[in-house]
Amino acid sequence: MYALQNKVAVVTGAGSGIGRALALRLAQHGCRLALADIDAAGLAATAALLPSPPYTHRLDVADRDAVHAFADAVKHECGGAHVVINNAGVALSQTIENMSYEDFEWLMNINFWGVVHGTKAFLPTLLAQRDGAIVNLSSIFGIITVPTQGAYHAAKFAVRGFTETLRQELDGSGVFAVCVHPGGIKTNIARNARHYVDTMGNTDHARSAAAFDQMARTSADEAARVIIDGIQRRRPRVLIGADARLMDRIQRWAPVRYPAALRALLRLSR
Ligand SMILES: NC(=O)c1ccc[n+]([C@@H]2O[C@H](COP(=O)([O-])OP(=O)(O)OC[C@H]3O[C@@H](n4cnc5c(N)ncnc54)[C@H](O)[C@@H]3O)[C@@H](O)[C@H]2O)c1
Repeated sequence: MYALQNKVAVVTGAGSGIGRALALRLAQHGCRLALADIDAAGLAATAALLPSPPYTHRLDVADRDAVHAFADAVKHECGGAHVVINNAGVALSQTIENMSYEDFEWLMNINFWGVVHGTKAFLPTLLAQRDGAIVNLSSIFGIITVPTQGAYHAAKFAVRGFTETLRQELDGSGVFAVCVHPGGIKTNIARNARHYVDTMGNTDHARSAAAFDQMARTSADEAARVIIDGIQRRRPRVLIGADARLMDRIQRWAPVRYPAALRALLRLSR
């Protein structure tokens, strides 16, 4: 088991959802926390929930220099870093035909490049210690695909490829990588999304977010519990929720034809 007590845990996107829940649970495990988010108010609200003040840093993970400066600041303020959770992320619903390059790049810069920046900025510290974990948030949408999620899929499949490669390259280094694939988690992600049209042809943002809330069955706290368990057990892949486990199984059962099975499931769940 990987011991978390007295380790420095870094969480990006800690101002909401899974990131906030991770911060609360990691504090219970005795970690010292370095938390970042682009949303300063959300970050302050997370900090206020913690038993002792964390190191907080307003950060745009899409900004490479800013992420490297954050890693330097964490080293200075916390004396190192052990568990780095690249969690910050956004959503976007639009068909590939109608998706603007601006929206595509916005999402890729956060959901893919943000993970690359966080990994490369902290990796030298972890390797020098020969101790640590890089934990990257992909999604069940890094395993299966649905229409209107082209940019999100591109980023989350890329995070999976990147993290699975890293895992192998780190073999024997004392550092390990974990790729996390949540199913639907009840957070603000759908409400904060750039939304044009969703899987069900819905163009109304509020209605679509409400439909997401109905479908997302797992709480952020439960997601955090499963992620931390995966880190402690040094799991290479962490699936979260019965929905994610089912979709993963369907994809293995019918690697090319799974979209038809998923459409049938979606119709049944409405
Ligand atoms: N909620 C789900 O159903 C679900 C499913 C699969 C994967 N995920 C992934 O989990 C991660 C966390 O999402 P969540 O559901 O908690 O969403 P959320 O919207 O509740 O939280 C995301 C956090 O990331 C922050 N953020 C956004 N852009 C940022 C940037 N450029 N720099 C720094 N911080 C930024 C937001 O301010 C917010 O605090 C994301 O990577 C998401 O893709 C979520």
